[in-house]
Amino acid sequence: MINFNEKNREFHLQGKNFSYVFNVMQNGQLGQLYFGKKIRHREDFSHFFYKPEVGIGIIAHYEEDPGFSLEYFKQEYPSYGTTDFRKPAFEIEDENGSRVSNFVYKGYRIYKGKEKLQGLPATYVLSEEEAETLEITLEDEVLECRLYLTYTIFNERDILTRNARFENYGKQNLKLNRAMSLSLDLPNYNYEMLHFSGAWARERHLKTRKLEVGSQYIDSTRGASSAHQNPFIILKRPNTDEDMGEAIGFSLVYSGNFLAHVEVDHFDATRVTMGINPFDFSWNLNGGESFQTPEAIISFTSTGLNSLSQNFHSLYRERLMRGEWKEKERPILINNWEATYFDFNEEKLLNMVRKAKKLGFELFVLDDGWFGKRNDDKSSLGDWFPNLEKLPNGIKGLAEKIETEGMKFGLWFEPEMISKESELYKKHPDWILGVKGRKLSLGRNQYILDLSREDVQNYIISVLDERFAEAPISYVKWDMNRNMTEITYGDLPHKYILGLYRILEKITTKYPHVLFESCASGGGRFDAGMLYYMPQVWTSDDTDAIVRLKVQHGTSMGYPLLTMGAHVSDILNHQTARKTSLDIRNHVAYFGNFGYELNPLIFDEEMDKKVIKYLDFYKENRKLIQFGDFYRIESPFEGNTTSWIVVNKDKSEALVGYFQILAEPNPGYNKKVILKGLDPDKKYLVNDEFEAYGDELMNMGIVFPQPDRYFSKDSETQDFQSKIFKLKEIK
Ligand code: DGJ
Repeated sequence: MINFNEKNREFHLQGKNFSYVFNVMQNGQLGQLYFGKKIRHREDFSHFFYKPEVGIGIIAHYEEDPGFSLEYFKQEYPSYGTTDFRKPAFEIEDENGSRVSNFVYKGYRIYKGKEKLQGLPATYVLSEEEAETLEITLEDEVLECRLYLTYTIFNERDILTRNARFENYGKQNLKLNRAMSLSLDLPNYNYEMLHFSGAWARERHLKTRKLEVGSQYIDSTRGASSAHQNPFIILKRPNTDEDMGEAIGFSLVYSGNFLAHVEVDHFDATRVTMGINPFDFSWNLNGGESFQTPEAIISFTSTGLNSLSQNFHSLYRERLMRGEWKEKERPILINNWEATYFDFNEEKLLNMVRKAKKLGFELFVLDDGWFGKRNDDKSSLGDWFPNLEKLPNGIKGLAEKIETEGMKFGLWFEPEMISKESELYKKHPDWILGVKGRKLSLGRNQYILDLSREDVQNYIISVLDERFAEAPISYVKWDMNRNMTEITYGDLPHKYILGLYRILEKITTKYPHVLFESCASGGGRFDAGMLYYMPQVWTSDDTDAIVRLKVQHGTSMGYPLLTMGAHVSDILNHQTARKTSLDIRNHVAYFGNFGYELNPLIFDEEMDKKVIKYLDFYKENRKLIQFGDFYRIESPFEGNTTSWIVVNKDKSEALVGYFQILAEPNPGYNKKVILKGLDPDKKYLVNDEFEAYGDELMNMGIVFPQPDRYFSKDSETQDFQSKIFKLKEIK
């Protein structure tokens, strides 16, 4: 619901459980009055606006009114150079080099539904009744530039989306140095900032810091959203936990360089800005041109972090992802990467496929090494034709044989990259991203294709077209294994991402039956932008169950289980050399898009039987896991135990995962997991072992059995224990 109070020029946006009020201030700019728990609508919110009578201390103020200084006020989309000294939401440079601007209110329109963003991924509606949109027009007459701020409220969700568009209607050439997707001023700084940081093989580890006066931010300058920081942050009150308290989540639907900046000023007020990273960014906005920022999403909760996460989960599942696969159960895949690396041929692969089929796998994925002369990571990126020494019948022959065996076939590509040792490089050395006259840095022995060029985009599209036309390909793993270094100009990283989005839009709409999984050395580009095109992501190259507890727990803060590729892999683990049981490896991988990265030919009979059981169990519970409501119970960032539960919509079924990292001596009987999200009045059968009501399970909990290790004859370690509890309603 969006209201406009004509007299005071106030806007009141009401989501399901939150309110957002802002107004047109006396200088014509937009001021912000309230953001928080839903309040009733009133015809007058002017009492929310505090303005001192006179200026205090050394401040800059308006000539006609000493009390009017932007420094004092919460603002909506703040500018630079007219009495506010905090970080602005945008910065425009005119031909004289001035970066002062003054955008004043011109009008608004409110309409049902939500319009598409040109060339950029964004959330959408299926019916106009789902959402309402407010578009505000502001104008700077000196710059001859218009600014459109757009807000969409989803009626049945606690979600607000925002974006900004600049339109140069004059003749002079302007330069945008900063154009954030959102700015939100909050009246105090009694918050903790949660962000998701890491690196390759340890992505999205939860970090919490108390806000302090000054700037705190996370960003990426790598040309990708990155494994190091994620374009998603949460501000929560200190007493907010998973189940109670206020929190605000901010997510950017974008896959390139980003900034999430939180500034606490000298009045203890907090300003959050989020958008394309202004570092090394500039965009020519010539007369007649416009610039569209990516979409930012804000979600508010007063009932804890689990509900905040669920707001994002359901939004992404239902109104960000698109295409056939959005609502389809995802297949259990087996990928040959860790099983063979580059060392395979058709026969070896087909033997793996036959065995995998018997065990119950549904999709066979051929990873890196099938093309050009690629026998290691030094060559052939760009030469997307099959290596006939390894695959004498080509991709077509292999794929058809795999289909005949009754399995689906998936293929790995890294379309954005090029090796110097390749046919493509010989033909098009100028297609590489780089700075003339400068030596280029390498990353995994490769270079980046300049996706800002339309001919390069079209080449990539045509290469994929060729492979799709000749062979039955049901799945694509779209990899990307290096970041940008030598960049020619400040608009390039964004133009690259726009180019990437154009390719993805074309390919994914042309081949709607293909399931796309994005990957960037694992989780190096796990963001809402990529999810718009590819509905699942290879969460991390790290398949060690213990590291995965943290990676998947952190990722779940912003992204649903359905999006997280989670595979069982070898012992010793290839990333950590850790030895964990088959049980815990399967149990952790259950909480995601389940698969294996193992050679099934090395399994003995006993292992075969076990694997069949694990797969059958996942198939029985796949719908619940992939489309249920997920709750975090215990955090791997806080202690020795982690537990999670996923509950289906009518609360008739649930799956609990309980994980204990190190064995504990003499633990007593207190190792309980207190469940969440159940119906207190429903009676459940737990693991076919006992019956209990939801209220018992959510208060008394379930006891985790401790192994009797004093008398254990088992030579296996008792570290890394896990147990799955399946709950079924008894009717
Ligand atoms: C990085 C990916 O994350 C891996 O899963 C694998 O596909 C390799 N690239 C192949 O080079």
